[in-house]
Parts: sequence; structure tokens; C-alpha cells
Amino acid sequence: MGTGKNLPYYSHDSDVCGIDFSPRMLAKAKGRAADSGAHIQLMEMDVQALDFADNSFDSVLTSCVFCSVPDPVQGLKEIRRVLKPGGQLFMLEHMRSERPLIGKLMDWLNFMPVHLYGANINRRTLDNIREAGFTDVESTNAWSDIVKRIRVVND
Ligand SMILES: C[S@@+](CC[C@H](N)C(=O)[O-])C[C@H]1O[C@@H](n2cnc3c(N)ncnc32)[C@H](O)[C@@H]1O
Repeated sequence: MGTGKNLPYYSHDSDVCGIDFSPRMLAKAKGRAADSGAHIQLMEMDVQALDFADNSFDSVLTSCVFCSVPDPVQGLKEIRRVLKPGGQLFMLEHMRSERPLIGKLMDWLNFMPVHLYGANINRRTLDNIREAGFTDVESTNAWSDIVKRIRVVND
């Protein structure tokens, strides 16, 4: 959920459950949730250990989240568990470039954003999605090969 910047984009008939493990982020999102026409529930929760039953959700959306989840494969496995069969995972995420030199540079510089604000710039998010067990994965580049739009269908 972060500060809820995506909330204005949900349609009025959406039933949204937004999670974040930071109470401070959720406190910021609260005002935006109140202004939204959609039905929004905010919950303090870690994506690595979701307190939802299996097969609960039609879709899951993440934006700029998997750079900072401590164990991204575990988080993605949890998303897979709570998504219904045929449910979709939509992601907008930045990740390590597949270009050898740029990728190496991102590896070398990674300690800085991790130290400053806890985000990694060299996550191999597409590999992590497959490692979590998803097989139907489509992605397009939104900026260079670093920011990607990803659509995953749960089988
Ligand atoms: C860069 S913000 C992006 C937020 C939002 N998606 C947006 O675009 O405004 C990343 C958010 O992921 C949350 N986050 C990181 N790891 C998490 C985890 N394991 N479980 C739940 N939230 C997590 C952080 O607290 C932060 O609010």
C-alpha cells in the first residue's frame, strides 16, 4: 500500500485489501483511502506471512514493493498461495538490468540505496517470480529494461 498513491486509480466498485508492514505508511494511506470511492481495507501485514486463507483474491497488485521485501521469493510464494486459480498478479517493479555492464554496475552500487532507504536496485524479480512457482509470466519494459510491467496468471 505504501502511502496509498495508487488508490485514486481503483474503480468505485473495487473491493480492495491493502497491506503494508509499516504502520507509518498505512497512517499516511488512511486519508487517501477515505477519499477513494472504492471499498478499501488497510491492514498491517507482512507479505512474507499473509494472514489470509488460500485462494482468497481475484487479483493482487504490487508497485515498487519487491525491491525492499527482505525475502522476495517467500513474499511471492505467499501471493501465489492467496491468489485464486486463474487469478492475476499485476506488478510495476524496478529490477536489475539484464545488460551485463549495467547489471554489474547495479550490483556494485546496490549497497547505497539499501543503506539509505532499504531498497535494492539489483533484484532479479522475473527470476524470483518463477522461483515462487508461477509459470505464466508476461512482462514489458516501462523504462529501459529496469522498470517492468508484469502480468502473471496463477495456474
Ligand atoms: C516504495 S514503497 C511503494 C508503495 C506503493 N506501492 C506506491 O507505489 O506508492 C514500498 C512499500 O512496501 C512496503 N513493504 C516492504 N516490504 C514489505 C513486506 N515484507 N510486507 C509488507 N509491506 C512491505 C514498505 O513498507 C513500503 O511502504
